[in-house]
Amino acid sequence: MEELVSLCKRRGFIFQSSDIYGGLQGMYDYGPLGVELKNNLKAAWWRAMVYERDDVEGLDAAILTNPLTLRYSGHEDTFTDPLVDCRDCKARHRADHLEDDVCPNCGSRNLTDPRPFNLMFRTAVGPVDDGSSFAYLRPETAQAIFTNFKNVIDSTARKLPFGIAQIGKAFRNEITPRNFIFRVREFEQMELEFFVKPGEDEAWHQKWVEDRLDWWVDQGVERNALQLYNVPADELAHYSKATFDVMYKFPHGLEELEGIANRTDFDLGSHTKAQAEFGLHAKVMENRDSNTKLAIRDVEANEWVVPYVIEPSAGVDRGVLAVLNEAYRVEELEDGKTRTVLSFKPHLAPIKAAVLPLKKNHEGIVGKAKGIKRELQALGLGRVLYEDTGNIGKGYRRHDEVGTPICITVDFQTIEDDDTVTVRDRDTMEQKRIAVAELPDYFREVIR
Ligand code: GLY
Repeated sequence: MEELVSLCKRRGFIFQSSDIYGGLQGMYDYGPLGVELKNNLKAAWWRAMVYERDDVEGLDAAILTNPLTLRYSGHEDTFTDPLVDCRDCKARHRADHLEDDVCPNCGSRNLTDPRPFNLMFRTAVGPVDDGSSFAYLRPETAQAIFTNFKNVIDSTARKLPFGIAQIGKAFRNEITPRNFIFRVREFEQMELEFFVKPGEDEAWHQKWVEDRLDWWVDQGVERNALQLYNVPADELAHYSKATFDVMYKFPHGLEELEGIANRTDFDLGSHTKAQAEFGLHAKVMENRDSNTKLAIRDVEANEWVVPYVIEPSAGVDRGVLAVLNEAYRVEELEDGKTRTVLSFKPHLAPIKAAVLPLKKNHEGIVGKAKGIKRELQALGLGRVLYEDTGNIGKGYRRHDEVGTPICITVDFQTIEDDDTVTVRDRDTMEQKRIAVAELPDYFREVIR
């Protein structure tokens, strides 16, 4: 883990947040390469979940959430971790993370009994902070999918089964953030709520577990680094009938990368009940010939159905850590030296190609290299970098270390002779000459 953390800082993937003021615990900032990697992972998820399917719609909802949503979702009452205080050194810990009930800070056994600590952050809304008007920072993106259920079906005419996907920030006031970007207080989720007919939920659950495992393998995660954990009943979240966690061998140990839960009709049912209790939208309910609001019409059965929900919920930051860890390797070279490589799948690489002029002050070479950069950039496959630091060998090493799949070198032969360039492959280190005219097809092939 230390090597990864150090590489991430040195090469601009991930920084401690508020670093110059001593940091803010449990918060990280993504740097120039980190933002590209993270965006690429999110884009891959969106492609697989929304664009490559015809049964999923997208959503991007507000982070600040009406407290009633999180009361009726059960989060106000149950979204807690067990907190203990050390009476000797005053440190606070999560009781279920302690070994042998010993304070990891000072070794004392003089601990309080565990008490529930709610993980939700809240903030005042509006100019008066008297506690009467507040909102929660959402602890999961899922709830806004449930509260927008009617808006989405009314605006898209969806029938079961179908899903709503969302990527966005979520916040949890973790008692002890730790393990780099694994357990943090501000993080991002990629969540799908997939609505199905009751009775079809278990088959869909199995299918989503398999699909999600395959997707992680497509992101470059070794299948044998992943394990499924069938969460036992006493560990299930309050809304879940069954959950499979996709566990990954992180540098600090085997931990959850994604949870795939069968949330049944818990959330839609409970928000519907809340609407009825409040008598809200009574007119809408009259018109709907139903006393359930967050329901969908089953035309064949001629009845209203509150769907069951299968929820694949993945952590973006945990995903970034997993693909970084999988890609990272230090290789021994023939000359006795080593090289560090991030062998990302090309679609995840922060920089897709670097174009390097052999001489940085040579007008012809520089002009040609900049032209190639512009042409490849215009293909829209991700960032292509023109870089004129001069030393080609060092450039190759630097781009190995940040995972750039190909480097393209423009030299005298390119401009004086045959309009070819040297293309150097990150993984094999092989170099070959190809015609500039063939570069777009070659590039497309590599990045795809
Ligand atoms: N939506 C599931 C989770 O946040 O854990």
